[in-house]
Amino acid sequence: MDTKVNLAGVELKNPVMTASGTFGSGEEYSEFVDLSRLGAVVTKGVANVPWPGNPVPRIAETKSGMMNAIGLQNPGIDVFCRRDIPFLKQFDTKIIVNVCGKTTEDYCKVVERLADEDVDMLEINISCPNVKEGGIAFGQNPKAVEEITAEVKKRAKQPVIMKLSPNVTDITETAKAAEAGGADVLSLINTLTGMKIDIHRRAFSLANKTGGLSGPAIKPVAVRMVYQVANAVKLPVIGMGGIETAEDAIEFLLAGASAVSVGTANFYNPTATVQVAEGIEAYMERYGFEHVSGLTGLVK
Ligand SMILES: Cc1cc2nc3c(=O)[nH]c(=O)nc-3n(C[C@H](O)[C@H](O)[C@H](O)COP(=O)(O)O)c2cc1C
Repeated sequence: MDTKVNLAGVELKNPVMTASGTFGSGEEYSEFVDLSRLGAVVTKGVANVPWPGNPVPRIAETKSGMMNAIGLQNPGIDVFCRRDIPFLKQFDTKIIVNVCGKTTEDYCKVVERLADEDVDMLEINISCPNVKEGGIAFGQNPKAVEEITAEVKKRAKQPVIMKLSPNVTDITETAKAAEAGGADVLSLINTLTGMKIDIHRRAFSLANKTGGLSGPAIKPVAVRMVYQVANAVKLPVIGMGGIETAEDAIEFLLAGASAVSVGTANFYNPTATVQVAEGIEAYMERYGFEHVSGLTGLVK
């Protein structure tokens, strides 16, 4: 059975990866999960300098999901390169670094800094709903998406994944813009902007007022968007949004994804990623699929 997938020339042993921001750089999870079982580890977003993130509370539970407004807290690229890359290099998995910034220059500095590091791919987060500058401000405007993609591509030594926002009217417009800018792969979806009010305190549940909704609640929206994007561009698509089981992941593959990421599910089931990978193999065996790539886009 062949579970390998090829993303812009990078070969993953299977299509299962972690969703940025839900797995750190794998240290805490390595007690529960053999990281070498994963197709790739996608790290938490990293910026050119340390970011403190947003004030607390910045997490709230919702029905079949959660909201977060972490605000991309991260230790900055220097600490990341010194501490997290050597840790991940111990494992037989691909390393995908999620990059964030407030300006195009910020993103480019991180991309340039990573040029000589031993990482496999870059995922550019232009879709975070929880920061005032950068993030979603880029990701909602097709022209800005094309421009920042082109700037990043000029400097990147590794293949570039552009991570798209679902907080748009027509996600195929930003997908096509990223393709026009030279993106190698697209990933989607980031979180959906939401709001929760604590009626007993008569206050917002999150200090940031709004937060990004993730988890099983968003899966049908994510599957729909993956289907739309996969049919609108020629690039490989990494699908995510509410995946907790292999069945969920297979829906994304059939809708057109070449690979999948598991996010929020890691918080309540730290072994979810490996279970998804094993479940995909069981499905392939049950239905006689030789190659996992044979599932991609099978439902038209
Ligand atoms: C606590 C938290 C932190 C996140 N941080 C990042 C981040 O740093 N960069 C990014 O691109 N996406 C980030 N995301 C979005 C996830 O990678 C993913 O796109 C989204 O949560 C949908 O997948 P899920 O429903 O499986 O969690 C974060 C999500 C959560 C819940």
